[in-house]
Amino acid sequence: MYTPERTRELQKLSESLLKSKTSNLAGSLNSLREVLRFHEYRYYILNDPLLADAEYDQLYKALEKIELEDPSSITPDSPTQRVGKGLTKDFTNVQHLVPMLSLENSYNADDLIDWDRKARELSGLQKLEYCVEPKFDGASISLIYENDLLARGATRGDGVYGDDITTNIKQIRSVPLSAPFATLGIQQIEIRGEVLLTKENFKKYNDQLAAQNLPPLANPRNAAAGSLRIKDPKEVSRRNLEAFLYHVSYHIPVEGKNETSKLLTHGGCLEMLWEAGFRSPMKEKKVLQGIDAVIKYCQEFEEGRDNLPYEIDGMVIKVNDVPLQEKLGMTSHHPRWAIAYKFKARQATSKLIAVEFQVGRTGSITPVAKIEPVPIGGVTVSSISLFNEEVIKEKDLKIGDTVLVERAGDVIPYIVKSLADVRNGKETAIEFPTHCPVCGSKLEKPEEEAVWRCNNFTCPAQVVERIIHFTSKDAMDIRGVRRRQCP
Ligand code: IVH
Repeated sequence: MYTPERTRELQKLSESLLKSKTSNLAGSLNSLREVLRFHEYRYYILNDPLLADAEYDQLYKALEKIELEDPSSITPDSPTQRVGKGLTKDFTNVQHLVPMLSLENSYNADDLIDWDRKARELSGLQKLEYCVEPKFDGASISLIYENDLLARGATRGDGVYGDDITTNIKQIRSVPLSAPFATLGIQQIEIRGEVLLTKENFKKYNDQLAAQNLPPLANPRNAAAGSLRIKDPKEVSRRNLEAFLYHVSYHIPVEGKNETSKLLTHGGCLEMLWEAGFRSPMKEKKVLQGIDAVIKYCQEFEEGRDNLPYEIDGMVIKVNDVPLQEKLGMTSHHPRWAIAYKFKARQATSKLIAVEFQVGRTGSITPVAKIEPVPIGGVTVSSISLFNEEVIKEKDLKIGDTVLVERAGDVIPYIVKSLADVRNGKETAIEFPTHCPVCGSKLEKPEEEAVWRCNNFTCPAQVVERIIHFTSKDAMDIRGVRRRQCP
């Protein structure tokens, strides 16, 4: 996207713009925008910023000020144009240029070998070239760029129609507001990808919810999907969403011009997207000959899954040659030229044996589900926080229920749902206590709160939790103080 020379030029230009007074910058509007776009790219796509945050802010504020003084100078792809004004009323339903299909799933090497055999038979080739990349566990989106400008962003919806979420998409800093498609011979392009939250940002967000005594979001996937449908663009911006773009579903060439030959292979499409300033799985993808190499790469990737900063739930294997993809075509549900290889599930079913009520440092009462121990993703899970009474009601949990449990990566385990259809009638309701299980004080709950509390400051459970908090790493950092495990 930026050659080393261009990088040096833009860095020099940034330095001189930083030294100028805002009042002198009005004549440098284009440079200012170009420099800001460049630094956004360094920060959000390459993860390698060349400016301090405050320096970026200084340039951004200068641009804002100039545009405020002369609104006629604003261009739709100006870095200031991400910020949405006001609230979105309703998302309008829009039709995708090409339907968004789902992928066939495979779970082991044999499934992949079968799929490869069919694809070879249909294509009449001995060995196929595949492009293999991660299957991002987020919410899928479809973007349209016209004459280099981001024209529309939509959710998947039912695959044919989705919701127009352009304003929210603009809050995702790794989605460029404009991209140089015309120089690649492309007038209009529809691209597909996945919006996600990194594990770190997901945790940060849940910590904020916890600080407000709100139940956390279940997993990064739900968090991403929910975030795209928020009506306040500023809140969407605060969530720090990211987007990976991995598929060109449609394009129209510029009249009288040949489009880039990169579009002829899937790997080439990923390269083209990367060079146009998108975050595509350029570094994660691998072009491989034959299914055996594919299986090996999938297994390697699965082993390293926990080291990635975001969640993936498998790999996607795509026939690399785009004309061959077209020849293979699709069934009514999914393309024949691609398949998902799903990693081992991080879900399991178990039995809800009991619910215990724990007293926190501030007296909050947290229900904790005790389940029959079950291994999920290499860890045995037997205890799961239920957060508050609302969660129990919402999920309609009963003692004796079979429950579906999920543990996504580093994320704490949670109960997805109870399987009400397999109840035998012996299940019993979960009684929320009226008195503190430790000191016996009457529990209280202010109207507007979700959490019941023991308001006895000398409650032994609270005292212990306060000491633990006081000695903890983030407070006094006194080592060696531990909660004794009572028999
Ligand atoms: S390709 C026509 N590539 O998985 C092919 N999909 O069940 C379009 N997904 O709805 C999909 N990572 O949301 C593709 N690298 C990837 C993907 C990916 C995640 C999602 C996508 C799709 C679902 C398929």
